Amino acid sequence: MRKKIVAGNWKMNKTLEEGLTLASEVVNMVKDEVNNQAEVVLCTPAVSLHAVSKLVEGSKVKTGAQNCYDKESGAYTGEISVSMIRSVGASHVILGHSERREYFGESNTMLADKVNLTLKAGLTPIFCCGETLKQREAGIHIAFVNSQLTESLFHLSAEEFQKVVIAYEPIWAIGTGVTASTAQAQEMHAEIRKHIASKYGQAVADTISILYGGSCKPDNAKELFACKDVDGGLIGGASLKSRDFVDIIKSF
Ligand code: 13P
Repeated sequence: MRKKIVAGNWKMNKTLEEGLTLASEVVNMVKDEVNNQAEVVLCTPAVSLHAVSKLVEGSKVKTGAQNCYDKESGAYTGEISVSMIRSVGASHVILGHSERREYFGESNTMLADKVNLTLKAGLTPIFCCGETLKQREAGIHIAFVNSQLTESLFHLSAEEFQKVVIAYEPIWAIGTGVTASTAQAQEMHAEIRKHIASKYGQAVADTISILYGGSCKPDNAKELFACKDVDGGLIGGASLKSRDFVDIIKSF
């Protein structure tokens, strides 16, 4: 069975103190209220990652970084390496978020290097893909998302590929309050799985968790998570409120 996952992407929000409060609320609510098997990951700002990782120790909640650099170490002022992320107790790294692609010029080739380093460090990449509204309207959204996967992931062996989590985030739905319809989400998730199957075979494709991201909230999570090929969510805005985030986790 595929793993169900709900990951919170805090983006550039929450000071250390605010982040610790949020994380401890999530840990307590998950302990008291959640009885499904969903994996819960908090992707915090890098400066809070150590403290939040310590705080969640011994609970069902895991932590992740929102990015890493595409080199192992060295003179890259301001950047953060996979070994640093691992050393503070995190288990996941979001890679290729559309905001990083847009504002920081991250290319599919650069992301392929980041994926390699992440896997080599024993961390789980949450690899983001997704199209703009213009691409969807032009009818090239499926081909575009497939090319993101091909160019950043399809050099991996089947064994490596099975360690990757995919997050489909239509750019037009991120932070806009507009959510993909269940039909749109299911269609793209099925296409992504089909594309993976064309390279690695159906058995491998069936093991890959594909998360939906883009204005996922407590009031739409249930119907999105009920889609056959949607295995959870990568949550932005709603992960900043413990009540909303935990209600989303309870939506399976
Ligand atoms: P929102 O949930 O705020 O739309 O953000 C989605 C996202 O970008 C998660 O990575």
